[in-house]
Amino acid sequence: MEHFYRPELSHQFKRTGFVKLENVIPEANLEMLSHYYWFLMRNQRLNPFPTSLGKYSDLLSESFLLQYQKLFEKILGLQLYPNFSFMRLYYHKSKLDKHCDRKGCEFAVSISIDYDADEIWPLFLKDSNGNQHSLSLDRGDMVLYKGCELEHWRDVFPGKNSLQLFLFYVNANGAMKHHKFDKRKRLGDPMVPEETN
Ligand SMILES: [Fe+2]
Repeated sequence: MEHFYRPELSHQFKRTGFVKLENVIPEANLEMLSHYYWFLMRNQRLNPFPTSLGKYSDLLSESFLLQYQKLFEKILGLQLYPNFSFMRLYYHKSKLDKHCDRKGCEFAVSISIDYDADEIWPLFLKDSNGNQHSLSLDRGDMVLYKGCELEHWRDVFPGKNSLQLFLFYVNANGAMKHHKFDKRKRLGDPMVPEETN
C-alpha cells in the first residue's frame, strides 16, 4: 500500500498532527468488509456500546493493521507496532462525544467503510495548532491522527447507519511501545483485563 505515499502527507501530519487519505481501500475490499460486518451484526457478534455496536480485535479487522502499517510508517517516518483494531456500526442518532483516545492509541486511523445516509457524517477534529476541522470521509477514505492528543467528535447522526473501522498503532521506539498489541500476546487475542493492563 506504500504506493499511496506522497511527501506532502508527511508534511501535513508534521504541521497539524493529522492527515486525510482519500480512496485508499479498494472498492472490492469495501464491499467485502461491508458484507462481513453486516454478517457479524446479524449473527449477534457485535457488542453494544452507548450509541453504537462494535467489535474489538475482529480477525479480519486486525489484518488491516498489518496491511496498512508500512504506509503509515512512511508517512510518520517512524517504525510502528500495531496496537489493536476496532470496528463500529453507528446507527440513527448515534453521536460521538468530544474525546481523545485512550492510552496507547498514539496513532489512530479512522476509516469509512460504508454508510446509508443522505450526506457524509463529518468527523470533527481539533488539530495540533488548535484549529478545528470538519472531515468528510467518504467510503474508502481515512484519517490518520494523533489519537491521544487531538480531540475529535461527531454530532448526532441523521442517517440510517455508518460502518467504520479504527486502527491504532504506537511508535516502536517511543514511550508507548509497551502498548504493542494492546498488551496482548498477539493480534486477534481478546482484550487484556484492565487491572493487569
Ligand atoms: Fe476516538
